[in-house]
Amino acid sequence: MSDKRGNFGRVGFILAAAGSAVGLGNIWKFPYITYENDGGSFVLVYLAAILLVGFPIMMAEIIIGRSTQKSPVSAFIAMNKPRWSALGYLGVFTGFVILSYYSVVAGWTIQYFIKCVSWSLHGFTSVIDQNLEAEFSTFLSNGTAQIGFHGLFMAINILIVAFGIENGIERIAKFLMPVLFVILLALAVNSYWTRGFQSAIVFLFKPSKLNPSMLLEAVGHAFFTLSLGMGAIITYGSYMKKSDSVPKSAGMICLMDTVVALLSCIIMFSIIFSVPELEREGQFAKSVVIMFTTLPKMFYQLPGGIVLAPLFYLLVSFAALTSAISLLEVVVAYFIDHLHWSRIKATIIQGIVIFAFGILAALSLGHSTGLSQWKPFGDRTEGVFDTMDYLASNWLLPVGGMLIAVFVGWVLKKAATKQMIEEGHGSFALHAVWKFLLRFVCPLAIGWIIYAIIFSGVTFN
Ligand code: PHE
Repeated sequence: MSDKRGNFGRVGFILAAAGSAVGLGNIWKFPYITYENDGGSFVLVYLAAILLVGFPIMMAEIIIGRSTQKSPVSAFIAMNKPRWSALGYLGVFTGFVILSYYSVVAGWTIQYFIKCVSWSLHGFTSVIDQNLEAEFSTFLSNGTAQIGFHGLFMAINILIVAFGIENGIERIAKFLMPVLFVILLALAVNSYWTRGFQSAIVFLFKPSKLNPSMLLEAVGHAFFTLSLGMGAIITYGSYMKKSDSVPKSAGMICLMDTVVALLSCIIMFSIIFSVPELEREGQFAKSVVIMFTTLPKMFYQLPGGIVLAPLFYLLVSFAALTSAISLLEVVVAYFIDHLHWSRIKATIIQGIVIFAFGILAALSLGHSTGLSQWKPFGDRTEGVFDTMDYLASNWLLPVGGMLIAVFVGWVLKKAATKQMIEEGHGSFALHAVWKFLLRFVCPLAIGWIIYAIIFSGVTFN
């Protein structure tokens, strides 16, 4: 059975899991929430959240998958805890929900890559006076374009996942991740010469004021960015070799994810701070769309922008692709492991179903008034797209993450987790610290988030 499932090599596992972690969350979401939270202190709190909550749960997910060699639903059954397989179902559902809108944003990055290539070829100066905000909102409300790019992205995703673990996911991660790092480094090095570089560094690393909602947002984002709480890492862990070290691999994945998030901020803020204060003002009203409105224009004001702009959107598309692959794999692995479908059948059918469901999100950005104004949670969300993101980031991932921490912290006995974590690593001196974080720190931090969402109306999208 395990031969048929396929296995990642050591580097393959780290790159595939880092590919899952590094995505729109790092390049698109992290910079704008950092900007909204005034930089400095938020970055520190975020780093603490990664270390104290993200890293321990990452190890917990990997060992569940690796010790059972199964995707989430079957994994809990294999561990003789059939009731916990509800957590697996929650993960499959979450993968479905996230991918349906994630793929829509990924579609935008493809569109902007194509746009930038054409701008670069035709000389951006001819369009420099264009109103990119208006252009972007026209694009958002163009239903055909939204569905088209969402469909294109899903088709690429389906093609890769259909090829399986070694031939599809591992191969693409081994190719795309190094390319992504090279592009990212090139852009980061380039930002050193921009006028805004120094201000960007100060903004990012100089402690500002601290507030509780910052803590909540940092912990919430730690789940999203590390792909935790929905079984993606359990599933990838199930393809990991028993001879590889879990703590080291988890550490590498968290480190890569964090480096990409920080470099993305440096790149974006250097560009943003290069523009004089006055011009900057007002440009950030809708910070979520910065990447598609303010940024392209600013890129073209930099030396080399003609090359850097398309490169940047290519980088983001790649990052989104390796994350989306892991989302689809969670759903597909369930149908393969639990319902014994063939990989090809599971990938094509589920990919199409997710695409179809995603159409609702694609049309909720202005094309359909009904879908765009749907408010199932009162004033907390508006439209299908927004609602899906709200559900996933605020509920599904934190609840899933908390249950995983409780499961590995409390339900699995000390001797069992010690053996699981030491396999392939050797003696793990920090076992007790890790267990403590899972038992107390993670559930309390997450419980607090959920409490705040229910009672004080904090949201993270
Ligand atoms: N980690 C991905 C990102 O940062 C998103 C993701 C979440 C992927 C959950 C898989 C599972 O963009």
